[in-house]
Amino acid sequence: MFTNYDTFVILAESLQWDEAAIDFAADRQAWPALGDTESARVLGLIAGFCIAESAVSGHLGSFQAAAEDDWVAACFRAQARDEHRHARFFDRVAAEVAAVPGADAAARLDVLRALVSPELVALFEERLPATAMRLAEDREGLTTAVGLYHMVLEGVVLLAGQNAMLDALDRLSAGLPGVRRGVELVLRDERWHIGFGTRLVQGAGLGHDEVEPLLALGQAAAGAWGDLVPPGAAERAARIHRNRLRGVGVTFF
Ligand SMILES: [Fe+2]
Ligand SMILES: [Fe+2]
Repeated sequence: MFTNYDTFVILAESLQWDEAAIDFAADRQAWPALGDTESARVLGLIAGFCIAESAVSGHLGSFQAAAEDDWVAACFRAQARDEHRHARFFDRVAAEVAAVPGADAAARLDVLRALVSPELVALFEERLPATAMRLAEDREGLTTAVGLYHMVLEGVVLLAGQNAMLDALDRLSAGLPGVRRGVELVLRDERWHIGFGTRLVQGAGLGHDEVEPLLALGQAAAGAWGDLVPPGAAERAARIHRNRLRGVGVTFF
């Protein structure tokens, strides 16, 4: 089996960036000039990213502890560093660009939850913690947990949202260059996270019984953004998910 997990760790090191260095001066000026529909859509997507990144950044510890290979554990550690940075970036956007009220990130999350579907919140704040807790208890089921985290939450839900965000930013009547720069950098990090997770699932040699639920979950999760992500973009993310699963060597048609 070809693993080469050290490549992901080296790649992650080379891609480091500082969310605090992103300049939002132009974004802050542009935000009040946006139309109501424009700002509602962008804020809804930001809300989803705040909820998602805050949740995923808190659960990689049990993945790291369940890893049998030191390099795999190092990958989870490097990924956790990225996810914490993503959470800080989107919270900065919420607070400094969109002026979401709240004394801290947790208080802002309380405001932002109302802006996304209950399905999206449940995926990140119920399903992911439950999976991570099971993983922490028995240290088995790492592949199933990676299937949910890396392949469905990152590979379908977040990817669909990030692409919809870039598309929305392109069409705004007033540009948000700092937000755009950060979203591009997040997307760059997520590519190696998804590649790493796919490699792990690939190495586990999943059977049909394990792939079917992963396939169904990916298909259902693609719609979790509701109106915030156009149906075509959600379907595209679901199709990429099916292709990734096909790429891990499993036949399901
Ligand atoms: Fe992330
Ligand atoms: Fe990620």
